[in-house]
Amino acid sequence: MAKPKTVFFCKECGYESPKWMGQCPACKEWNTFVEEPVQKREIKGTALSGAKRGTPAAKPAFLNEISLEEKDRISTGFEELDRVLGDGIVIGSLVLVGGDPGIGKSTLLLQMCRNLASSGRQVLYISGEESLKQIKIRANRIGEVTGSLKFLCETSLDIIEEVIREEKPEIVIIDSIQTMYREDIASSPGSVSQVRESTNVLMQIAKGLGIAVFIVGHVTKEGVVAGPRVLEHMVDTVLYFEGDRSAAYRILRGVKNRFGSTNEIGVFEMRENGLCEVKNPSEYMLSGRPEDASGAVVACSMEGTRPVLLEVQALVTSTNFGMPRRTAAGTDYNRVNLLIAVLEKRCRYEMSRYDAYVNIAGGLRMNEPAIDLAIILALISSLKDEPVSPRTLIFGEVGLSGEVRAVSMAEQRVNEAVKMGFDTCVLPEICLEKMKKNDKIRLIGVKNVREAIAAVLR
Ligand code: TYD
Ligand code: MG
Repeated sequence: MAKPKTVFFCKECGYESPKWMGQCPACKEWNTFVEEPVQKREIKGTALSGAKRGTPAAKPAFLNEISLEEKDRISTGFEELDRVLGDGIVIGSLVLVGGDPGIGKSTLLLQMCRNLASSGRQVLYISGEESLKQIKIRANRIGEVTGSLKFLCETSLDIIEEVIREEKPEIVIIDSIQTMYREDIASSPGSVSQVRESTNVLMQIAKGLGIAVFIVGHVTKEGVVAGPRVLEHMVDTVLYFEGDRSAAYRILRGVKNRFGSTNEIGVFEMRENGLCEVKNPSEYMLSGRPEDASGAVVACSMEGTRPVLLEVQALVTSTNFGMPRRTAAGTDYNRVNLLIAVLEKRCRYEMSRYDAYVNIAGGLRMNEPAIDLAIILALISSLKDEPVSPRTLIFGEVGLSGEVRAVSMAEQRVNEAVKMGFDTCVLPEICLEKMKKNDKIRLIGVKNVREAIAAVLR
């Protein structure tokens, strides 16, 4: 008897290989290959042609023949979620919501369903993870549900497909893709081929019937479950729900969006009765900040179109060993090293005698170069043990020769500082020249790091 054929898949990115490999050549992750049986592929119509359902193949169309209607977007009832989706849910779109287990994906989607149902939409929530009783307990926490919101506990996609065709909902939630399976595929639920084929079926449902489908995908570091990255390329929109599980706030980040910008974030807070929107993230990020502590500086980062103020903290202490220690939490480690080198070379601070720890308070990850100047000033403030005024906002990119370079959207950042009650703003000289006069805040333009240090510290 012939041996059943198998192939190897990378659990991280879905790379396929006939033999096992220690490192995936595509995503460079180690030890991610798993063996799975190959199934025979039948030739099917693609999702968009509708050939499988016997409808006539679509004709090519001119751009001006395609009509765009405003009502193609559905509001989720959450402003934060709408913004990340690109102004609401697009009919017939496939959205992947990824995140660590327990971060609140099911809660977010259930609350969204509740909002949609109460605005008169037909919603179907399919759970493969929890029983109807468990869902009911969760629903009781988030408040009363009115309108047409139905629940189904099922993991077989063949049955799910039938139910969807019968019920004809407008929005479907699949929680989670890793529990779904198709009978004609030999491997177990959660394997790369099951996850892929299941997504394929859901894509055909979404595009064929014009239903918006939300798929939950758990991010898994280890174990046999395929990660959501395997299906990122198949879906229209990829959102990641992140945040420290011990902290209350959660950030929803768009990673891919065929219908909108990807650098928007939505901020939520986990409460006793579900998730709650945080409309003013700056206030949230700065709350509980120590005033008049050395090594703490407020910076401004742009998250899409929204400025977010955050606190950059640094701790500089003399080193006990020959090798100074450096760490960077919430920002790029190499960037911090580079900025320390700039201080050493251009400003003559003997940084090699000190350990330096940099942290972005609040747990946000910020890689925007506009926070460079704030990192530098936090380091020097800690080194001199001199506080920077807590009402001063600092932003600017720092170049290798210690010059302070322009950043985009300076005006919005300054406005946010005014809104939050700041009285001084240190910014790149070039940005200041282009800006309108502002008498609500003192603006200090700086050309290089030395000027910036002189402006805020003695
Ligand atoms: P959940 O949505 O089940 O996470 P996921 O689907 O991403 O795995 O979130 C579960 C966590 O949220 C759990 O630790 C309890 C907490 N939680 C609250 O704090 N308040 C609430 O109202 C709800 C429903 C959950
Ligand atoms: Mg869940």
